[in-house]
Amino acid sequence: MIVTENLTKRYGAMTAVDDVSFVARAGAVTGFLGPNGAGKSTAMRMMTALTPPTSGRALVLGREYRDIPNPGRHVGVMLDASAQHVGRTGGEVLRLVAMQLGLGKDAVPAALARVGLSAKEADRRVRNYSLGMRQRLGLAGALLGDPQVLILDEPANGLDPQGIHWMRTLLRDFADRGGTVLLSSHLLHEVEIVADELVMIGNGRIVAQGSKAELLGSRGSIARSLDAPALAGALVAAGFEARPDRDAVHTAASTDEVGRAALASGVVLTELRAAGSDGLEEMFLQLTADHAREGDAR
Ligand SMILES: Nc1ncnc2c1ncn2[C@@H]1O[C@H](COP(=O)(O)OP(=O)(O)OP(=O)(O)O)[C@@H](O)[C@H]1O
Ligand SMILES: [Mg+2]
Repeated sequence: MIVTENLTKRYGAMTAVDDVSFVARAGAVTGFLGPNGAGKSTAMRMMTALTPPTSGRALVLGREYRDIPNPGRHVGVMLDASAQHVGRTGGEVLRLVAMQLGLGKDAVPAALARVGLSAKEADRRVRNYSLGMRQRLGLAGALLGDPQVLILDEPANGLDPQGIHWMRTLLRDFADRGGTVLLSSHLLHEVEIVADELVMIGNGRIVAQGSKAELLGSRGSIARSLDAPALAGALVAAGFEARPDRDAVHTAASTDEVGRAALASGVVLTELRAAGSDGLEEMFLQLTADHAREGDAR
């Protein structure tokens, strides 16, 4: 389990991570989602004692990371797959980690097999690895000590569709065996498929969190009608948030409630569906747009 409590990081006047509190529970994959510059990597660096928080704290398996003895045996971390020493072979990189962790001889071949790197590939220098191979190597390093927790920053970067599918299966399996997985991404659809829980951040702050089912299911409805302003008006009068957008109405009301409002006000519906992931996607796009605007202003 990973718990962050009011985790905050300031760089001068800039707040990179702002009062972030969430729990990534054991047995689940938690997607840590946010646009570029949202603060995901900074938060993960604080969880793994690479950056001290300005305030708040992060507990991994009930302790701060730096207080965990031989942390690599408990927490697998992959923050930057391109940070590996390019002059070493993949096998050397892993053997060094295995030595530090005090692991037996079988650990490296087992980890290589788990991530689908062949013995021949392990003998090549990291310099000559593709981005996808580096990701696999990074993941092998994270898995080497047979940890209970995985903290992975954008692990799907550079993987082809088959690689992404493979990684999802691996993470799913890891969580199903009781492990804790926290993985970040700036792509909603990438984590939507594998994650059980989602934590969404923008500008350092949590903007949404909850189970995937909750977040994808509870975002109201989208209705199309011959008179969208009238339908929106009827919904607002009934106490729901609603706004017309051309012939569509986006509303916090459920499909049942929209149907009733339409009937009561005599408005013809031409389409009615739960917003589902559209709601989350819209929120995410909004976040990304807000952030891009801020970036432009700088
Ligand atoms: N050492 C630092 N000094 C100053 N500002 C920093 C530092 N590290 C990160 N930041 C700033 O903190 C903010 C969050 O950065 P972070 O790398 O955590 O975002 P991210 O969510 O991982 O983004 P990405 O999707 O691009 O990886 C950014 O505005 C970044 O410029
Ligand atoms: Mg990052």
